[in-house]
Amino acid sequence: MREFDFIVLGSGIAGLSFALKAAKVGTVALITKRGRADSNTAWAQGGVACVMSDEDSFELHIRDTLDAGVGLCHEDVVRAVVTEGPARIDELMYLGVHFDHRENGNGGNELDLGREGGHSKRRVLHFQDATGREIEHRLLEQIAANSQIEVMENHMAVDLITTGKLGYAMENSCVGVYVLNESTGVVETLRSDVTVAATGGCGKVYLYTTNPDVATGDGVAMAWRAGATIANMEFIQFHPTCLYHPDIKSFLISEVVRGEGGILINERGQRFMEHHNPQKELAPRDIVARAIDAEMKRSGAKCVYLDITHKPVDFIISRFPTIYETCLRYGLDITKKPIPVVPAAHYQCGGVKVDINGETSLRGLFAIGEVACNGLHGANRLASNSLLEGVVTAHRAFEKSTRQRRERLPFDLPEWRSGEVQDVDELVVISHNWEEIRRLMWDYVGIVRTGKRLQRAATRLRNLHAEVQEFYWNFKISTDLLELRNLVTVASLVVDCALSRKESRGLHYTLDHLERDDVRFLHDTITRRN
Ligand code: SIN
Repeated sequence: MREFDFIVLGSGIAGLSFALKAAKVGTVALITKRGRADSNTAWAQGGVACVMSDEDSFELHIRDTLDAGVGLCHEDVVRAVVTEGPARIDELMYLGVHFDHRENGNGGNELDLGREGGHSKRRVLHFQDATGREIEHRLLEQIAANSQIEVMENHMAVDLITTGKLGYAMENSCVGVYVLNESTGVVETLRSDVTVAATGGCGKVYLYTTNPDVATGDGVAMAWRAGATIANMEFIQFHPTCLYHPDIKSFLISEVVRGEGGILINERGQRFMEHHNPQKELAPRDIVARAIDAEMKRSGAKCVYLDITHKPVDFIISRFPTIYETCLRYGLDITKKPIPVVPAAHYQCGGVKVDINGETSLRGLFAIGEVACNGLHGANRLASNSLLEGVVTAHRAFEKSTRQRRERLPFDLPEWRSGEVQDVDELVVISHNWEEIRRLMWDYVGIVRTGKRLQRAATRLRNLHAEVQEFYWNFKISTDLLELRNLVTVASLVVDCALSRKESRGLHYTLDHLERDDVRFLHDTITRRN
């Protein structure tokens, strides 16, 4: 058993920010299941929404966030994240993160603020179209220089260790984590009184996603198994514009392309967003994604197109170098031709239920970033609010967890017992189940839902869950098997939450109940393991 003052699971913006702060007061184990830069953050293109200009105000950013969230945002949390944002952005800049600037017309420089859907002002700080990569890279430089932080790459958390599971008669608390070391195959026991889940979201639960392969919902699944409260998993955000190309999966075409004037057209070259919302291409994401879905269903086309060709070539290349170069590598010159796009699963707005300080219902367990549901996003996340949430809640969780540190409980943690297990004889079974989950979630639990399709998904997932549990108990665990186990759990949580919300609100849209119902459903969907 190894002991640390803090265990951090995940190496995106929230996990890295927390680790850097925690390292000032104690030892930190930073656990990441692949390489340290493999995170959703590193893929974020658009940027960080924050009030940094005199033409903007906290009240406007708060209002835009509340409007996007369709009644379910927690206003106190929205206020805290928005108003504490500028201080956290200053910290990022102090740590070396670059954001683009432009001339201000008076011979000076100012931040170049981008615009995205649902924002009434330009307020998105960015570094070209690779903001997440820049943040990840700079924070990792700081992590590498910090001797208090032990980065454990290729280590996958198996389960949280709780006093409840150990059989102690006390308030259920998280006291550590069992972690699979991929290179040795050994499950290590790590102990800490503060464990921070910063494991990101669950995009891989869907067949088409803008997320990297690591986004398998590990934190939500583990927290649920440990007895923590989970909320709002029905609210999965579909990004309207993922590149549609046979040779490249999961490549996002940033919303900023629409913010800078890109228009959506159908296969006949007709603009269609004006028929769906007065804000057209810059309507909130749920509306744009549903409009594209409807357009594709109506015409039978496999995609729609995003056209930015009317903008100057130099502007396109300098503002969107990653998108330009990636598309060009696949034979598409976006300065000359519209980009084929489809909606894809992008962001999990629900998660482990926490307060504004990231405290879960399980003592000793904090959750920050996409894995958490603190009330900032409500029924639909406002674009680029999540990197901001990551830094603000990392700071708050750090302050809260250091304030409440307590004496270590006087017992040792048991080592992991693997029992009489064998190697998985047929890996095809894992990949088959994985694909089946992702396909059925796409077909039955997508942008437009019905009760019947959700029921069908629930039944199939129950069988898959039983199969996966059987593998888990009888075979040697591997990262693939653990991810599959988490995926099936999270898929079931999405379906269960969706079944219980009998209205349409934000990202949850069902043909059975087309209107929102504020009398019965103006509240979070809460679930916990019995
Ligand atoms: C984008 O660049 O479109 C993604 C931004 C976000 O999801 O917040």
